[in-house]
Amino acid sequence: MIRHFLSLGDAGGDALAAMLSDALDRKEARAGQPRGKPDRDAPLAGRVLATIFEKPSTRTRVSFDIAMRQLGGSTIVLDAAGTQLGRGETIADTARVLSRYVDAIALRTDDHAKLEEFAEHATVPVVNGLTDLSHPCQLAADLLTVVERGKALPGLCWAWLGDANNMLHSLIEAAWLLRMEVAVACPEAHAPGPALLREAEARGLRVRVTRDAREAVDGADVVATDTWISMGQEGSAQAAKLAAMRPYQVTEELMARARADALFLHCLPAHRGEEVVNAVLDGPASAVWDEAENRVHAQKSILLWCFGELA
Ligand code: CP
Ligand code: NVA
Repeated sequence: MIRHFLSLGDAGGDALAAMLSDALDRKEARAGQPRGKPDRDAPLAGRVLATIFEKPSTRTRVSFDIAMRQLGGSTIVLDAAGTQLGRGETIADTARVLSRYVDAIALRTDDHAKLEEFAEHATVPVVNGLTDLSHPCQLAADLLTVVERGKALPGLCWAWLGDANNMLHSLIEAAWLLRMEVAVACPEAHAPGPALLREAEARGLRVRVTRDAREAVDGADVVATDTWISMGQEGSAQAAKLAAMRPYQVTEELMARARADALFLHCLPAHRGEEVVNAVLDGPASAVWDEAENRVHAQKSILLWCFGELA
């Protein structure tokens, strides 16, 4: 069975917990080393990862490359526009061919169905590098950041402000897998869909959805947000959406309602002064730079799981 990582559920709660623990150990073991130096055991020596981007990326692009170097392997980074995929070669054929060259593939694309089709035809593990539906690698890094700060995941109260986007989808999935609580404050027009909420409920998670940002944040352990306009959503509806989102900006006043030791998370890139004010992003509760760094450490463990090196 090929171990694809298209969603957090592909691994499941136990494997996810094992990944977080492995990531913490590996991060600690290599502290202070040059960033590109392989870990002592170099568990993926000789392995090659291809990453393909149909959308822009800074963190995902660089963190996968560095993750592979630290695991002893290497990476080929492809912009879809510069490949035949960009000229219409099919997803299936691209997946078949790349599977003959490399040992794993990470894909960032728009429609999640394209990622699933890619995985269906690949004969090596495929990793979700973000789709319009979900961003599981980012969530793994977010979870790692929370655990690293000494917080236990079961029962953790995670407030989400703003758009019901790919990040929120993966957060809700993480919450049902790891028994966290999620409160969402958002405008009605940009709320999580009923199908996702029903699925969460069937898996034992009742997501609290409110129009009131203060209510979601009250007593939260983590306050998180993301851009109000995700990649590919730019256009004429943008101005109305930005206006509707305004009450959900993360401010110092809102953060003061969360627990005194609450963390602020943002997957980045941030739109300073839109979804979050500088005083929060650069303030004492912000863990966003650790969160960005942890993309490397979390993805190392995801890759090890894909290669069967983690249970
Ligand atoms: N958070 C994240 O995925 O960032 P990039 O778009 O820079 O990869
Ligand atoms: N929701 C954002 C995440 C960027 C990392 C987007 O899809 O553009």
